[in-house]
Amino acid sequence: MEVERYEEIFLGISGVVLVVFLATLFYAAFGMHIHMMGAAGAIDPAKVAQTPPFDHPGVREIAPGKYEAVIIGRAWSFTPKTIEVPAGAEVTFLATSVDVDHGFYVQGTRVNMMLVPGQISRMTYRFNEPGTHMLICHEYCGLGHQFMYGRIVVK
Ligand code: CUA
Repeated sequence: MEVERYEEIFLGISGVVLVVFLATLFYAAFGMHIHMMGAAGAIDPAKVAQTPPFDHPGVREIAPGKYEAVIIGRAWSFTPKTIEVPAGAEVTFLATSVDVDHGFYVQGTRVNMMLVPGQISRMTYRFNEPGTHMLICHEYCGLGHQFMYGRIVVK
């Protein structure tokens, strides 16, 4: 079978691009340790309210200065809507969605996650300065999307 010169070049470039993308993917996964959320665990979205720790949403101190904030996202609210922590608190957010994909972004921080039904998202952040951070859903999730927000109050 005769292969055109341009076809050969095109196939060659496609092959190189594929190898570069794969190499980038492997480097991100194993070199930089970037992983999809879900490493924090899976959960049945229909049984979130009965599954620990989501059966008791809210914030609690798990060690001196360390807090765990368990938050449920649903169309179109976060439960609880407001959490309070003292300045200097290291907060590990554990969150999930019971219905559709939601965003979970704490303004002014690098806490930026997706809440996907069936998966638990986890991220830790230290709040050094007193103040109020808005927690906003930044993934369009339906008619009430713009009303889906909460507050992280650092005292
Ligand atoms: Cu939830 Cu947008």
